[in-house]
Amino acid sequence: MDWSLLKAQAVAVAERAYAPYSNFPVGAAARAEDGRMLVGCNVENAAYGVVLCAECGVVSSLHATGGGRLTHFVCVNREAEVIMPCGRCRQLLFEHGGPDLLLMTGAGVRRMDEVLPDAFGPDDLIHVEEAR
Ligand code: THU
Repeated sequence: MDWSLLKAQAVAVAERAYAPYSNFPVGAAARAEDGRMLVGCNVENAAYGVVLCAECGVVSSLHATGGGRLTHFVCVNREAEVIMPCGRCRQLLFEHGGPDLLLMTGAGVRRMDEVLPDAFGPDDLIHVEEAR
């Protein structure tokens, strides 16, 4: 896995972020299991709470280009420093990459189940079926 290439994609897409309110552009890039590269940038809104994190773009792109699972992920700020995905986006990434998803962090490569331990996920919804 070429992490530097993946990070370069995140750095490039951060240039396209729409972040006039926070002035904190974010770029995210991920690899899918079939080798596809997905990117996304944050897109803010005058109604501040409506912000789309860069990870939202990655996940949308994953499905828009054929679906599948994420295997590797990185996101960066405008200084090209690796940042951690926010809590909500860890949940988003868990849904589409599961516990084995690898994330580049400031402290090295981490597994999803290290950065979102004891996650709630699709498997927990089995009880919906049981209750029917
Ligand atoms: N942001 C992301 O795009 N992803 C994250 O994981 C952290 C936060 C964005 C949201 C907002 O536009 C800006 O960074 C400041 O919070």
